[in-house]
Amino acid sequence: YGTQAINEQGHLTIGGIDSVDLAKVYGTPLFVYDIQLFRDRAKAFQKTFEDEAIRYQVAYASKAFSSIAIYQVAAEENLSLDVVSGGELYTAVKAGFPKEKVHFHGNNKSETELRMAFEEQIGCIVVDNFYEIELLKKISEELEQSMNILLRVTPGVEAHTHDYITTGQEDSKFGFDLKNGQADEAFKRAYGHSFLKLMGLHCHIGSQIFDTTGFQLAAEKLVEKMSEWEKDFGYRCPVLNLGGGFGIRYTDEDTPLEPAVYVRDMIRTVKKVSAAADFPLPEIWIEPGRSLIGDAGTTLYTVGSMKEVPGLRKYAAVDGGMSDNIRPALYGAKYTSLIANKANAEATELYTIAGKLCESGDKLIDEAKLPAVEAGDILSMFCTGAYGYSMASNYNRIGRPAVVFVENGEHQLVVRRETNEDLITHDMSYTKEVKDR
Ligand code: LLP
Repeated sequence: YGTQAINEQGHLTIGGIDSVDLAKVYGTPLFVYDIQLFRDRAKAFQKTFEDEAIRYQVAYASKAFSSIAIYQVAAEENLSLDVVSGGELYTAVKAGFPKEKVHFHGNNKSETELRMAFEEQIGCIVVDNFYEIELLKKISEELEQSMNILLRVTPGVEAHTHDYITTGQEDSKFGFDLKNGQADEAFKRAYGHSFLKLMGLHCHIGSQIFDTTGFQLAAEKLVEKMSEWEKDFGYRCPVLNLGGGFGIRYTDEDTPLEPAVYVRDMIRTVKKVSAAADFPLPEIWIEPGRSLIGDAGTTLYTVGSMKEVPGLRKYAAVDGGMSDNIRPALYGAKYTSLIANKANAEATELYTIAGKLCESGDKLIDEAKLPAVEAGDILSMFCTGAYGYSMASNYNRIGRPAVVFVENGEHQLVVRRETNEDLITHDMSYTKEVKDR
C-alpha cells in the first residue's frame, strides 16, 4: 500500500520510515498515517474534475478521521471539509481550516451546533429535515445572517459494496424523500427565505461501494429534480452534491475501482442528464472519507500472549483491539496484516488475531496468514485509516492510541497517546454529603 516497502533488515517501512522503529519510539498500539498517500488521493479526485472541465468541490468527510493535523493537511490540499458535529467543527476552527469551505451535516444537529455554524460563518449547512429548516429560519432571522444550504434527499438508491437497490421509498433516518413530495415541500419551505440561500441538493447512497451504477442513478434522479424545480418555480439550484462512499481494498476480496473512475462516470452522467433536460451543468461536489484516508493508515500492535486450541486454531493476542478498531466486531470487517519485523519471512501459519479487551468477540482478524509469531513481534494491520481512530473508545478503560504522520522520511506525533490520568479527567468523587442526606 502506498509508500510501504521492506528495508534491508526485513522491516516494513511506511513513508520511508522503519515501522519497528516507530513502534519503539511511540509505543503501540500506534496509528501511522502515510500523508503523501492522502495528498495523492485528494489530487486524483481534483484532477478528474479538472480534466472534465467542471466546477467542483471535493470535501473530506472527516468522520473517517478527525484531528487538527489532518484538517491542516486537508486545507493545504485545497479540500473542503465535511463535519457532522460541533466537535468536528470546533476541531476545524482550531486547526485554522478555511471556514467558508466547511459543510455541516447531520440528521439531528442541535440548536447550539447550528448557532456555532452561524457564528463561525461556515460555507454551508446540509439540511436534513423540516425541524431543521424551522430552526435555521429562527436562528438566521434572529441573527439577521445568511447561510447557504443544501437539501439532503434520499433518492431511493441504496448501494452496498457490489450491488445497489432502488426503492420507491427509502427507510432511512436521513434526508427528505425524493419520491413522496417531501423534497418538494422542503424546497417550498426553504426557497425564497431572506436569509437561507438554497444552493442545491445532496445525497449519499452508501459506503464502501465498488461500482458506479448507484452513483449514476442517484445523479440522474437529482438532476431531474433540480430541472423540474427550475421549470415549476423558476429557480435553478447551482450545486449537486453526490456524497462519498467510494470503496477501497482492505483484502484481496475487495475489488474497488480507481477513485477517479467513480467521479468521471458521475460527471459524465450529470453532463448527459443535464443536456437531455436542458438544464445548465451544476457545480458537482463530492465528500469522500474512506477513499481519501483509509489506506493511508496502518495500525502497529505488539504481540503478547499466544494460545493454541489444539486442532482448532492459534490465537495471537495484541495490545489493542476493539477499543482502537471496532470495525471487525461491529461489521465483520476484514483486514490484511503482516509481521513488521519479519516482513520478508514466509507466511506459513494461520492465526486468529485477538485483541486484549474482555469480550470473546474482540478479534481483529479471523484468519491471518503469517510467519511463526512470537511475543514481542510487531503486527501491522493495513487500511485502518478510516473509521479506526475516529470510532475508538475507552472501553475497559484503555486509552486511545497515539497517531503519527509520516512523510518524506520524517515522522511526527499528531495525537498524543491517552494516559491513565487522561482517563479519569472527567471523573468526580461521589461526596459524602449526598450519601448522608
Ligand atoms: N457523506 C455522508 C453524508 C456520509 O454519511 C458519509 C459516511 C460520507 C460522506 C463518507 O463516506 P465514505 O466515503 O467514508 O464511505 N463507520 C462505517 C462507515 C460509516 C459511513 C457513514 N457515512 C465504517 O466503518 O465502515
